[in-house]
Formats: sequence, C-alpha cells, structure tokens
Amino acid sequence: MSECLEDSSVSPDIPFVAVGDEDMLRPNEVAEVAIEGDSILVCNSEGQYYAIQNLCTHDNAPLGLGRLIGWEIECSRHGAKFDVTSGEESSEWLLQPLVTFPLRIREGKIEVQYTKPEPPAFRLIGDRNQG
Ligand code: FES
Repeated sequence: MSECLEDSSVSPDIPFVAVGDEDMLRPNEVAEVAIEGDSILVCNSEGQYYAIQNLCTHDNAPLGLGRLIGWEIECSRHGAKFDVTSGEESSEWLLQPLVTFPLRIREGKIEVQYTKPEPPAFRLIGDRNQG
C-alpha cells in the first residue's frame, strides 16, 4: 500500500486530516470524503493513494461517479479524463486541471492535507463554442 506521498506541496503549517483506514479501498477504487464541507475524492491507483477535488472541471460532475483506470479517472458525464497524480487533464479538451491535495498514510490511516482552494474557474479554457 501507499507510503507517505509528502512532497514540496506539503505545508508544515496545515494539519493533515484522517479520512479513512489505509485498507478502505482496493486498487482502482475511489471514495468520496468530506473535509470542511467540501467533497474530496480519494483514489487508489494501483496501490498508491491520491486526493483530488471531486468535481470535473468541464461541467462540475462529481468525479466519484467516474471510472478510475490506473492513474487516470474518466468523468461519467461526458468522458473527460484526468491524471490523478497531477490533476492535469489527459483527454486534450483543454480543461482546467483538478486541484490535488497532499496525502499520506500514518498509523494505518489515510490523511489528507486540505486547503480550501480559491473558487476554481470551471470553464473550458479553449471553449470551442466561443469566438
Ligand atoms: S462534466 Fe465531466 S466531462 Fe463533462
């Protein structure tokens, strides 16, 4: 199972919040968890855990209804795909990336360092319907 995934995005001033047990997900499963009233998606990608915003940047569908295959989650509404390791969109629709959150495993618990993001602009950057 995943070891601590701390990296340079971890802030020492912001606490980690336990969101579940280390074994709560099998590979390629996801879980919607609430932190500070916001929905976060925890993904088990081939045994590595990642935390992302649970909202597609195309048209705000919950990504928890989508399908996780390896490191890519596919939105259930229109099929946009995102890399859960980076938040970057991988379907080449020119969408905003997802917000990702630092995650670690401590004492058998999955912990997420949650910072409420600025209200993301859920829009298509290269909107084909404009201009
Ligand atoms: S809302 Fe996710 S692809 Fe459209």
